[in-house]
Amino acid sequence: MDISHFPAILCLMSNLELSTFLLNWYDANGRNLPWRVKGGAHPDPYAVLVSEFMLQQTTVKTVLGYFEKFMRRFPTVESLAAADEEEVYRYWQGLGYYTRARSLHATAQIIVSEFNSRFPDNRTDVLRLKGIGPYTVASFLALAFNQPETVVDGNVIRIICRLYHLTQPFEEIKPLIAEKAAALTSHTRPADYASAIMDLGATVCTPKNPQCLICPWQKACLSRGRPDIEQIPARLKNTKQIKNGSVCLITDSTGRILIRRRTEKGLLSGLYELPWTAEGSLPFSGMHNTGLSVTHIFTHIRQTLTLFTLQTDTSPIADGFFISPSEIKNYPFSTLMKKILKRTGLI
Ligand code: ADE
Repeated sequence: MDISHFPAILCLMSNLELSTFLLNWYDANGRNLPWRVKGGAHPDPYAVLVSEFMLQQTTVKTVLGYFEKFMRRFPTVESLAAADEEEVYRYWQGLGYYTRARSLHATAQIIVSEFNSRFPDNRTDVLRLKGIGPYTVASFLALAFNQPETVVDGNVIRIICRLYHLTQPFEEIKPLIAEKAAALTSHTRPADYASAIMDLGATVCTPKNPQCLICPWQKACLSRGRPDIEQIPARLKNTKQIKNGSVCLITDSTGRILIRRRTEKGLLSGLYELPWTAEGSLPFSGMHNTGLSVTHIFTHIRQTLTLFTLQTDTSPIADGFFISPSEIKNYPFSTLMKKILKRTGLI
């Protein structure tokens, strides 16, 4: 093994020492976040649930503003369960990935109706809720009930791969990463440990320019000082599917625009949209190609839509209806549609 890049002082630290160093660092440096209490489980599992749904695929910085407004409008699981779906969507507007809003709403209803408004505190019951996968189960049980569950998200993958200098594509070594992450998880302060490792990834062991000199694990880290640290974790080649479709801004003679509510099953169901196709052209005759396009990345798809315009007073689609531009704010649109509406200058 070539050890020329390894730091001069490398200590062998036990898992318990590593976990203690991280917790001490967290006590002094952990972020104060509105959905977090330091020193144990959060007293309100509902706040943990809402924040964990919001934080799936969205940064802390973005979530901050949304979380507070959401909690003010829906302060309890009962208030969320009783809310109208469209209102929930409105409070989610801008966060994207609306499936999460639908799942959170459904989850609130299950907790009220099937669990008598008591939050489940075990894996089997939590998995009966909607939109909750292995990551959210672990973070929810750790943060809301102080259970020694291991959170494995992008931050944790990066930290573990760097700590042990694992250079294979992380998709190929997920069980090994999970095992190493589990071995480090604190059994005495699991809630704080889960928050601590998230904070370490967000503020110290960052993808670019990691701050190794202030890292509580610097003495044990096999990647510290190595030139390849920013390339860890390695990943498999980008496999995003590319789709080129069209979208049409249809206006009537009074300047109103045509929208429809998406009822098809899937990611965007229930949201409003301009008529569009994911691939190929729309079938409306008389459309004008503006030459403008918008690209949006869904989890596995790179979607580009070319923008067309059409003027007509009769809707060419059965479920379309006209609204005035000032009414746009009353309808929940997907992030993709909002990008298009911005490009047209309507919002
Ligand atoms: N990312 C996911 N869950 C989080 C949390 N509870 N705090 C900070 N970042 C997170």
